[in-house]
Amino acid sequence: MTAQAPARRLYIKTYGCQMNVYDSERMADVLRPLGYGLTDAPDDADLVVLNTCHIREKATEKVYSELGQIRRLKARRADAGEAMLVAVAGCVAQAEGAEIRRRQPAVDIVVGPQSYHRLPELIARAHRAAGEALAAEFEPDAKFDALAGTRDSSGVSAFVTVQEGCDKFCTFCVVPYTRGPEYSRPPAAIEAEARALADRGVREVTLLGQNVNAYDDGAGGGLAGLIRRLAKVPGLARLRYTTSHPRDMDEALIGAHAEVEALMPYLHLPAQAGSDRVLKAMNRGHTARDYLSIVGRLRAARLDIALSGDFIVGFPGETEADFQATLDLVREVGYASAFSFKYSRRPGTPGAAMRGQVPDEVKAERLARLQALLEDHQRAFNRAQVGKVLPVLVEKPGSQPGQIAGRSPYLQATHFQGDVRQIGEIVPVRIVSAAKNSLAAEPAMVAA
Ligand code: 5AD
Ligand code: SF4
Repeated sequence: MTAQAPARRLYIKTYGCQMNVYDSERMADVLRPLGYGLTDAPDDADLVVLNTCHIREKATEKVYSELGQIRRLKARRADAGEAMLVAVAGCVAQAEGAEIRRRQPAVDIVVGPQSYHRLPELIARAHRAAGEALAAEFEPDAKFDALAGTRDSSGVSAFVTVQEGCDKFCTFCVVPYTRGPEYSRPPAAIEAEARALADRGVREVTLLGQNVNAYDDGAGGGLAGLIRRLAKVPGLARLRYTTSHPRDMDEALIGAHAEVEALMPYLHLPAQAGSDRVLKAMNRGHTARDYLSIVGRLRAARLDIALSGDFIVGFPGETEADFQATLDLVREVGYASAFSFKYSRRPGTPGAAMRGQVPDEVKAERLARLQALLEDHQRAFNRAQVGKVLPVLVEKPGSQPGQIAGRSPYLQATHFQGDVRQIGEIVPVRIVSAAKNSLAAEPAMVAA
């Protein structure tokens, strides 16, 4: 995946009408950012696309006979240790659907005219199915890297990667291309790492994964099972996990929030948008209602659970009404904190090729409105803690002399007068004042 990787050859055979000629050009456009350049001959192509037409009689049979020849080409390439992907597009793909792959297994991808923008995803999935590395070249962008540390790790709090990769293919995101398929580490290895950390004085572990709640221990235990297992590790008092996808928020995990004391009442659960139309274009696989229902069930399980999220404004096609739906969702959930971004067009992702790109001024203006609302919520959430006694895990000296600092259960940075020898302890403190990004507290004489 270096910038010098050789270009990939794309052969498109176009049948039929002018519409198909236009569509073939569009497909070439969508594939160019993935490194595909057009070639005139199928023989040495890395990707062969038959853009089919249904209009004349026997058209379908003609496609199958052409595919028979391509199958032989593909077999010859395979003998030479080279991969060739075969895609059937156009009206025959639309009409025949999965039947094509049943009749001609050499076909990797069947894609109808409504879905050409999804070609990057379909190609990545086909490469994965063949057990190969991905064809795309993507520039990493730390800004959107869900694993980029959102907090300092200290000797008291540590991150443990439990899962990598992503199979979700949100149409704005490069992660499925750059990080590959979802992979989970074996639970025994994770537990051993957690025990070693606890032995070194770590009190809090945050389980990390691009799609952490897609964690699969191979025995149906899922992330909930892993959390219950780690909760028994002596010395570990707090567990967190990030980042989760709404689609993988199962009942077992929601149940763990009700039952596992060490599991902190805080969840980063990106919604990305509040409009179902935009969520569909993003390929999120959930509606606003689905998301709200998960939040409702989480709150039923754990009354005080605080939510955090990620939002994108100005996704292609987003109207003011769609954006209002995002604001509505934010108001309904009430986030303790959240990240929000202007949609950024990442070459090679389906979103980059979509119509209806939103002008930057509009994105900037929507982002400002969304961030103002999110900040209001964050301040309100922090203010709501004033007067309460919260257990704070002390992590480090504070910025002022005599101060120590740590985190509340809701991940709020909290400082109070104390001794650095208390680092690593969980101290009950009374919250006396709240700012946007931190809480000031005093020691409380109550048990946590
Ligand atoms: N444009 C804007 N935001 C993006 N994110 C990921 N890709 C993009 C993009 N192309 C955001 C999402 C994700 C977070 C880690 O980064 O909100 O949840
Ligand atoms: Fe990207 Fe979506 Fe996967 Fe998150 S779930 S890493 S946003 S593709």
